[in-house]
Amino acid sequence: MDRSSVFFFLLGLVLLCSCSQSSAVEVTYDGRAIKIDGERCVLFSGSIHYPRSTSKMWPDLIQKAKDGGLEAIETHTLTSQVVYDFSGNLNLSVPYVCAEWNYGGFPVWLHNMPGIALRTDNEIYKNEMQNFTTLIVDMVRKEKLFASQGGPIILAQINTCNGWYCDSFTPNNPNVPKMWNWTGWFKHWGGKVPHRTAEDLEFSVVRFFQFGGTGGSYITTSYDYDAPLDKFGNLNQPKWGHLKQLYLHLKSMEKSLTSGDISSTDFGNSVTATKYDLNGIASANSSTDATITFQGNQYYVPAWSVSILPDCKNEVNTQISVIVKKSNKAEEEPSALNWVWRTKNNKGTALQGLGPNIVEGILEQKAASNDTSDYQWYMTSVDLEENDPIVNQDLSLRVNTTGHGHVLYAYVNGKHVGSQLAKYGSYNFVFEHNITLNIGSNQVSLISATIGLRNYGAMYDQVYDGINSVEIVGTKGDETLIKDLSSHNWTYKTTFKAPLGKDSVVVDLQGIGKGCNATCDYRGAYTNSKCATNGGSSQRWYHVPRSFLREDKNALVLFEEIGGNPFYVNFETLVGGSWSCRVIV
Ligand SMILES: *[C@@H]1O[C@H](CO)[C@@H](O)[C@H](O)[C@H]1NC(C)=O
Ligand SMILES: *[C@@H]1O[C@H](CO)[C@@H](O)[C@H](O)[C@H]1NC(C)=O
Ligand SMILES: *[C@@H]1O[C@H](CO)[C@@H](O)[C@H](O)[C@H]1NC(C)=O
Ligand SMILES: *[C@@H]1O[C@H](CO)[C@@H](O)[C@H](O)[C@H]1NC(C)=O
Ligand SMILES: *[C@@H]1O[C@H](CO)[C@@H](O)[C@H](O)[C@H]1NC(C)=O
Ligand SMILES: *[C@@H]1O[C@H](CO)[C@@H](O)[C@H](O)[C@H]1NC(C)=O
Ligand SMILES: *[C@@H]1O[C@H](CO)[C@@H](O)[C@H](O)[C@H]1NC(C)=O
Ligand SMILES: *[C@@H]1O[C@H](CO)[C@@H](O)[C@H](O)[C@H]1NC(C)=O
Ligand SMILES: *[C@@H]1O[C@H](CO)[C@@H](O)[C@H](O)[C@H]1NC(C)=O
Repeated sequence: MDRSSVFFFLLGLVLLCSCSQSSAVEVTYDGRAIKIDGERCVLFSGSIHYPRSTSKMWPDLIQKAKDGGLEAIETHTLTSQVVYDFSGNLNLSVPYVCAEWNYGGFPVWLHNMPGIALRTDNEIYKNEMQNFTTLIVDMVRKEKLFASQGGPIILAQINTCNGWYCDSFTPNNPNVPKMWNWTGWFKHWGGKVPHRTAEDLEFSVVRFFQFGGTGGSYITTSYDYDAPLDKFGNLNQPKWGHLKQLYLHLKSMEKSLTSGDISSTDFGNSVTATKYDLNGIASANSSTDATITFQGNQYYVPAWSVSILPDCKNEVNTQISVIVKKSNKAEEEPSALNWVWRTKNNKGTALQGLGPNIVEGILEQKAASNDTSDYQWYMTSVDLEENDPIVNQDLSLRVNTTGHGHVLYAYVNGKHVGSQLAKYGSYNFVFEHNITLNIGSNQVSLISATIGLRNYGAMYDQVYDGINSVEIVGTKGDETLIKDLSSHNWTYKTTFKAPLGKDSVVVDLQGIGKGCNATCDYRGAYTNSKCATNGGSSQRWYHVPRSFLREDKNALVLFEEIGGNPFYVNFETLVGGSWSCRVIV
């Protein structure tokens, strides 16, 4: 990709348009449009979270975005690293982004700074933010990447709409053009695979323009988003093709969309026609088709559809369904992979309660791990005297977890007594399993694991994560005795991180999969549960970027904490998109 491009930075927008020159470009805007050297533009941009792919994948992703009709790429500046790290795939460079990133993109060490309150009017926070922002702006300026310096970056964060339908969005400043995000949705662990039909997306895109728009924990790692380019970097058809056509139509109307008079005619029942200079757009009701007379011509307007009339007469039908050929081709499929098993050896010491840090009481998980791992050992000992009344009772170990402490494994005296996984959306749980204790010293060891920290919401950074209380509960008849271990001395130990790991290579981690929901009535507003498919318990396909692979032999290290059969694990290649479903009404 040439340097002709523009980008959002800190949510930057990089232009990919043909105004390719390395001379300075003046970027301004008003309530109707972004202006490049005074020319009003309708801008179609695509969002790329660049660290979700490797730097080797970027040129291909950007080329496919450009081929699909996009003129700009917007991206966040990201790094959740312990120190600001701009090397390799992180090159560019974290302020808060939400973006389904762990902890919203903030590095967790920020949380551990005494007195800090993220995303509030807090001096410590504001200083860190200013420090970071200055660092980024200086870096970008030094590389001469701003449009005013002849570089590709045209805009940094201005108010945009996050939503599936943004036609009624009003920017917080009337002199800022309408800009919009959200093409699809992402998958949660255990959740269904979201699909948003191309038709519905087109409907919302055109409505956005009709009403004055001018720009465009527990989350699985795939972050496919059902976007026009899928998680493997392949075209998600028919969406990619539909949008390309649509962008061309809208682009041909650029002048009238961004300047000139606008008038709307309301035909009732949510059917409206909007006249931009010479061009008209009609939209419809969510359940009932209509026939309207507009400028002397009769038009049939299907429910939840849009018709663009570039010459105000002849319709460009945007409701074309494309049948997708499933082109899932396996190439050089290894017949079976050879596996070597190795148990993690640090279990031994942790089960004996050995670890580097001893603290009185239970530490919140972010404070204990300081972002060095998602896994945290908590170990303590329980000393029982022979005359302790609890000795003759039936005993259980009860552990309360809150926030985003999603997984718990418990061991007593070196033996596994049970484990528990939080359900998506209800993360607080009480673990309770029967145990037996010895007279004398007993060792209680727990592993608490998070599957991503919260990434948004008021005070989201203050949420308590992980174990908050541990009790031994003794019962005999109606009598209950509780030994609260929470204020004991606890030993902490951070363990392993999960291993890091021209057609896309995919590792298939399960033998089971289901097909698409072949019929989906997309009429009416989209939600992430509408038209969803599958609903397996975890993510199955993991993209393995080509640049991670050697030509001859490659080693795959799988860290499996729950158990399963690696016999079905395999490598596959994908050609073209494969996930789109035929949509019918
Ligand atoms: C947490 O990590 C940060 C960044 O490495 C470091 O500066 C800080 O000292 C650590 N805090 C604790 C309590 O270990
Ligand atoms: C980031 O990329 C630029 C351009 O390729 C390069 O000059 C710079 O050294 C890179 N920075 C880091 C930290 O790798
Ligand atoms: C658009 O929304 C998605 C989903 O919330 C997010 O990942 C992405 O970063 C957003 N992009 C912008 C530019 O706000
Ligand atoms: C950010 O903070 C670090 C450490 O306090 C300091 O060395 C650096 O100069 C600051 N950077 C900016 C751009 O203020
Ligand atoms: C859609 O049209 C039907 C019948 O034409 C009407 O009853 C209904 O109120 C309309 N819905 C909306 C949201 O306008
Ligand atoms: C543990 O959680 C349960 C249910 O949420 C609650 O009733 C109980 O008070 C909690 N115990 C402690 C010690 O926090
Ligand atoms: C736990 O112990 C109680 C009391 O002895 C018993 O009723 C219960 O069935 C036990 N639960 C399990 C899962 O073994
Ligand atoms: C807890 O640890 C502190 C400091 O290491 C020690 O002084 C104290 O005796 C310990 N308490 C118990 C109950 O072991
Ligand atoms: C398929 O989608 C339709 C329409 O959204 C829905 O009514 C139906 O329950 C779905 N079927 C399955 C198997 O998910």
